[in-house]
Amino acid sequence: MVIGLLLVTAIPAVTGISQAMHAQRTREERLKDEKRMKRFNIDVVCEDEGSLTKEADGKRLVLKDDRVWIGPEMAMQPCPEGYVAECFYIEYPDTERNPVPLGLVSQVQDDPPLLNWIYVDKDTMELKYGNKSASIQHHVGPWDWTADEVGITFDKKRKRFVAVENPKTHKWQVYYDMNNDGLVGYVPQQRRGIQIYLKRTLVPEPEA
Ligand SMILES: *[C@@H]1O[C@H](CO)[C@@H](O)[C@H](O)[C@H]1NC(C)=O
Repeated sequence: MVIGLLLVTAIPAVTGISQAMHAQRTREERLKDEKRMKRFNIDVVCEDEGSLTKEADGKRLVLKDDRVWIGPEMAMQPCPEGYVAECFYIEYPDTERNPVPLGLVSQVQDDPPLLNWIYVDKDTMELKYGNKSASIQHHVGPWDWTADEVGITFDKKRKRFVAVENPKTHKWQVYYDMNNDGLVGYVPQQRRGIQIYLKRTLVPEPEA
């Protein structure tokens, strides 16, 4: 599998602690990593009562043209609307960032299998996907989950994701409202938008 040359470098070097602590720590970290690396699809939940809710509620995110979109409900590969996001968490390998944020990775194609980072474009607030060089100058995290491990958060917030309609194509694209002001300056304000929550739906593990 081609892993965007980044996962290998993401394994932390553990130095300067005793062997016993080292063994203990790595065991705990391994268990933690295993949970974090369980793959999931991302489904949308809308709590608004508005008439637009049906455009997004219960639908699954897909990836196309470097961006993240609302796809069909329960979408599975192959999906004409885009590659169905299949994600997991791992630290973003950038030692310049302190603390190192948890990143969100998705497979983005089958053949050859390729993993990319999902990030928030700092200039447009769009959710996008790309390799390390495409993503590093943008907001790459911290991604996380809520206490019940179902909700997806970015920068500890789960309420800032917004689906915005392109009035020509009627496709709904996912943004992150970093300034919490309805994406003023990023999206033409006459466009239709819906606040959405993102939820992890675990992908069934392949039979061993
Ligand atoms: C990273 O992605 C960019 C496009 O966003 C591409 O031009 C570049 O070749 C990719 N780099 C690697 C190492 O795959």
